[in-house]
Amino acid sequence: MEVVIAPAQELAALAADAIESSLRRRPRTVLGLATGSSPLKVYDELARRHAEDGLSFAEAQGFMLDEYVGLAADHPERYRNVIATEIAERVDWPADQVRGPDGLAEDLPAACAAYEESIRAAGGVDLQLLGIGTDGHIAFNEPGSSLASRTRIKTLTRQTRVDNARFFDGDVERVPTHCLTQGLGTIMESRHLVLLATGKHKAEAVHQLVEGPVSALWPATVMQFHPHATVLVDEAAASRLQ
Ligand code: F6R
Repeated sequence: MEVVIAPAQELAALAADAIESSLRRRPRTVLGLATGSSPLKVYDELARRHAEDGLSFAEAQGFMLDEYVGLAADHPERYRNVIATEIAERVDWPADQVRGPDGLAEDLPAACAAYEESIRAAGGVDLQLLGIGTDGHIAFNEPGSSLASRTRIKTLTRQTRVDNARFFDGDVERVPTHCLTQGLGTIMESRHLVLLATGKHKAEAVHQLVEGPVSALWPATVMQFHPHATVLVDEAAASRLQ
């Protein structure tokens, strides 16, 4: 696991560099997309490089990590809509080449299985962007998740719902209780994992991720088994590293 400590803006540029070099080498790159605050500066940087340097996503495919269950199709916090707004529509990425698990499907387990199949059919994810929850989740694999898990329905912890209430006018009751999420086993099949974390509130999770024992209680620790994992953190998020 490679750990880089730098100011947030530099971290975003480093993540964008990794994505850009993958896209320039192989325009049909398969990108794994995270939502939440952590990747926003990366998406800004990619949009800038698209506008100023002609970086193209026209042949790329995108797979989102997760999705809330039951948010209306036009809800601005539905992750499909967030990804469309934050990156896909700011670059030349055809809408049908960016996919996520379908949180409005009638048959949610079938939608999860279909999603796994679509990732496989695309040849797997080349580069997966990740954030980390204060409780050590990646995607929405909350503490206790099987390290071998696949895309499935999960209950969000109270902590995650409190953390995400800022996207729902500060009202935790409006944060959905369930989600569909890629499993830890699914994520571990990506060829390169790039995790971003900034801020003191992430310091304990980053400490566990890098230095803790591998355990389902801190799901991100499974990344210690990955052959190509890059952890990009600012000073505050790195403050508990030894
Ligand atoms: C979002 C996701 C989550 C977030 C995590 C950190 O798609 O998979 O694991 O990455 O909750 O969220 P932020 O970046 O908002 O602190």
